[in-house]
Amino acid sequence: MEKPFRRRDLLGIRNLSADEIVGILNTAENFREINSREIKKVPTLRGKTVINLFFESSTRTRTSFELAAKRLSADAVNISVSSSALTKGETLLDTAMNLDAMSPDCIVVRHASAGVPHQLAKVSKAAIVNAGDGANEHPTQALLDAMTIREHKGKIDGLEVAIVGDILHSRVARSNIHLLTKLGAKVRVAGPKTLVPDDFAHLVEKNLFVSKNIEEAIEGADVVMILRIQKERQDSAYFPTLREYSIHYGLTNERLNLAKSDAIVLHPGPMNRGIEIASEVADSSRSLILDQVKYGVAVRMAVLYLATGGNPS
Ligand code: CP
Repeated sequence: MEKPFRRRDLLGIRNLSADEIVGILNTAENFREINSREIKKVPTLRGKTVINLFFESSTRTRTSFELAAKRLSADAVNISVSSSALTKGETLLDTAMNLDAMSPDCIVVRHASAGVPHQLAKVSKAAIVNAGDGANEHPTQALLDAMTIREHKGKIDGLEVAIVGDILHSRVARSNIHLLTKLGAKVRVAGPKTLVPDDFAHLVEKNLFVSKNIEEAIEGADVVMILRIQKERQDSAYFPTLREYSIHYGLTNERLNLAKSDAIVLHPGPMNRGIEIASEVADSSRSLILDQVKYGVAVRMAVLYLATGGNPS
């Protein structure tokens, strides 16, 4: 019997059970159809308030949380950090407590430092949803990736998933590794040695393997997930040049042909075309990059609904 998600906050995938993850995915499936209606609005969260507090840039996550809130009839408020009192020296926790004093139901937060959503959850009465904290976790990205994989493969259990690129700085990799291994997939990671932490295979108990090179990771894979080179988090040289990175780790058609013939390609975005992924792959029929973005709205509808007290499917 599935034990559904009944937590107030969504801080990461690491502490969720497989049942809780499946509960969120099933709830997202139920909301999905609303996004293809002519009138994309239902009254489910009428009277609820969602604050988007993003300290880092975002196109997909911020927009889809806002759309998700609005399509469920919640009031959505976006805080512009550059014009907030944070620029006058107010601390992050004071900002959070002041926002909380206005009685929002949910605060969605993205921050460059790992653990910020966890700190806010300690002082806030509103539900806190992690929209990406440093190199720690990006739970809704992993959920939308899982929804995309389930849609195209019909399952996650037993799949071979290759995750390639900047593992060291990637919150997407961490959340995906937790989610995919909890749901029974086998995950192989590959990247330059400097971008794959030595002890990474111990991140989870089982089903995580560090491959010698990209070819070994991709061979026979059902899913190939390519990560962005995060220039903003790299304070030292992890590889000689971007051109060299692209030669050794870029996903080309030739490399993708090592995967299963029906393998699918995912990338969380934003893409560095011609560096970690060739345009011939990104624009091919095997690429589900825009499906990921599409399912992101349904996943965030589910997360807002559950975090603000909705009953899971
Ligand atoms: N995948 C992702 O988090 O994209 P954004 O940075 O545009 O939100």
